[in-house]
Amino acid sequence: MRLDVVSIFPDYFAPLHLSLVGKAIASGRVDLAVHDLRSWTHDRHHTTDDTPYGGGAGMVMKPEPWGEALDALEQASDLPMTIVVPTPAGQPFTQALAYELATRPRLVFACGRYEGIDQRVIDYATDTYEVIEVSLGDYVLNGGEVAVLAITEAVVRLLPGVIGNPDSLLEESHSEGNEQLLEYPNYTKPPIWRGREVPEVLLSGNHAVIARWRQEQATARTRARRPDLLGE
Ligand code: ADE
Repeated sequence: MRLDVVSIFPDYFAPLHLSLVGKAIASGRVDLAVHDLRSWTHDRHHTTDDTPYGGGAGMVMKPEPWGEALDALEQASDLPMTIVVPTPAGQPFTQALAYELATRPRLVFACGRYEGIDQRVIDYATDTYEVIEVSLGDYVLNGGEVAVLAITEAVVRLLPGVIGNPDSLLEESHSEGNEQLLEYPNYTKPPIWRGREVPEVLLSGNHAVIARWRQEQATARTRARRPDLLGE
């Protein structure tokens, strides 16, 4: 999979070279290119924003650098581009969307700052490419960069061959086929820590009983924390 990220803060993406995503990049499974939007500006101050038409607080990202960025990225590869625009006004990012993005050959992340990107950039891109505006949740970040880190990690770990034991994808919260329950609590050794014991059932060796206990725990947790997932 090819990933391009366009941002005025390319340094945000150094952590992508760590851990599992870093390994996927090092092995060639993922081809990551981070681009500084300012490289597509032509004035002395490398200006990427301006005041909003109609007035109001904040700044809006200018369309020209974004247009040049999209043209340059299109030229750089024959793979069809899916443009992902993180914005609090986007569709909620879910595990289902992560699975969908994982099927695309090339994701281009367009990181807005300030009050966002001039809408004409989004409209223009929508005429030419697949564009998905995505929100990480109902809160406001200062820009799309942190959202891209989260989306990238959620997507790359789903690519075939990236996670050593694919069974671990099956049981976790929100995984495909497990959409309605949060994950049950997990324990490891030692059996007693600071006076707290591991639930006895987990030491029983009875897999059927353990599976039932985990199901009950997952259901109780989901009811307490996310009743919406149970339709309650
Ligand atoms: N940019 C700013 N806030 C955001 C959010 N909640 N999700 C995705 N991108 C954002």
